[in-house]
Amino acid sequence: MGNPFYLQEIPVDAPFCDREKELKELQSYAEARANVVLFSPRRFGKTSLVKRVQSLLAAKSAVVIFADFFGVGSVEDVAARLAKAVYGFTHGKPSLWKKALRTLLSFRPVLKPDPTGGISLSVEPATSGRSGVDLLEETIDSLHRFIVDSERLVQIALDEFQEIVTLKEALKIEAILRTHIQRQKASYFFIGSRRRVLLGIFNERQRPFFQSAINYPLGPLPPAELSKFISWQFKEHGKSCTKDMGLRLCSSVDCHPYYSEKLGFFVYEMSETVTEETIQAGLQKLIVSEKPVFEAILQGLSPHQRLLLKALALEPPKKILAGSYIQRHGLGSTGGVQHSTKQLEDLDLIERKGDSEQWQLVDPVLAMWLRGTG
Ligand SMILES: Nc1ncnc2c1ncn2[C@@H]1O[C@H](COP(=O)(O)OP(=O)(O)OP(=O)(O)O)[C@@H](O)[C@H]1O
Ligand SMILES: [Mg+2]
Repeated sequence: MGNPFYLQEIPVDAPFCDREKELKELQSYAEARANVVLFSPRRFGKTSLVKRVQSLLAAKSAVVIFADFFGVGSVEDVAARLAKAVYGFTHGKPSLWKKALRTLLSFRPVLKPDPTGGISLSVEPATSGRSGVDLLEETIDSLHRFIVDSERLVQIALDEFQEIVTLKEALKIEAILRTHIQRQKASYFFIGSRRRVLLGIFNERQRPFFQSAINYPLGPLPPAELSKFISWQFKEHGKSCTKDMGLRLCSSVDCHPYYSEKLGFFVYEMSETVTEETIQAGLQKLIVSEKPVFEAILQGLSPHQRLLLKALALEPPKKILAGSYIQRHGLGSTGGVQHSTKQLEDLDLIERKGDSEQWQLVDPVLAMWLRGTG
């Protein structure tokens, strides 16, 4: 029997833990043509969740479009990814495909056989010499005609939406998208894990998207549901894990969805019956497997940010600016700590615990690794 735990985005037909409330709410927001900002730390299951919501909506004959802006390189690229997502969904659905061809005037689809025997889809600008901004404006305007023409609910998910901020025309892109999205009768989900950056787009008064969408935070999985899910996965696949051990397993990584699955994966590989010892051994494997990711994160930080991150992992402070804390960890001046705190928060590496003055690392396994490195 194969290992049931997933390390990648979960396919819509694979076992999924809970998120019942979120599935229902997000579906209902989409049906109300509302726009939603869905945010969480990395690997909490945003993409998997939205794909599920879209698949449920598609089963009720909605048009669902999913564009991923990860690593987007230019305004033209933003426009092309949007157009490709529309052609991607409509391909193989003759009447919608015709509508897409009729309405989407900025890009045409290019279909080519791929080496695996399938068909690969890309897009190219319909006319040459247009600027990226013009192409985006025309694409989003075309999208409006497509939405009207399709006469169905249209749900559009823009994953890693905060990446548009990295482009030099960011404000212009925000303004174009906002103006057109405002008049469309569609539902948009803006998804991302750089929470400060994403929320800045929607919650800063001077920005085009100010207060135009529902803020929707996604938390960790609930311990009761996650522990049941984990023990069930072991049982279904021929091994044994009591609910107590399931709870121990997921609590050891703060019910972080990705780490719970990955720890489950390692523990499943190692034992027939889950015990405290196998969980500990699995945790060590997990930390080692994440090490290259953590090292890359640290390499991108300044020495002072690294020092502060490590201090926070070793001793989450009641008050980060307390003189004794700063002294104990050799953090220098109060101003320096303030500055690094803000930068680590912008990078989504640290967060406040609730509304308190207490700071902690966002990633529980990064914290464990930092506590273990000398
Ligand atoms: N409801 C769930 N049940 C079980 N596992 C889950 C669930 N949600 C997420 N996971 C686990 O978390 C992993 C990450 O999921 P996903 O890629 O959807 O997260 P994400 O928030 O989009 O991540 P990123 O911030 O990197 O884009 C999945 O591979 C899976 O292992
Ligand atoms: Mg994702």
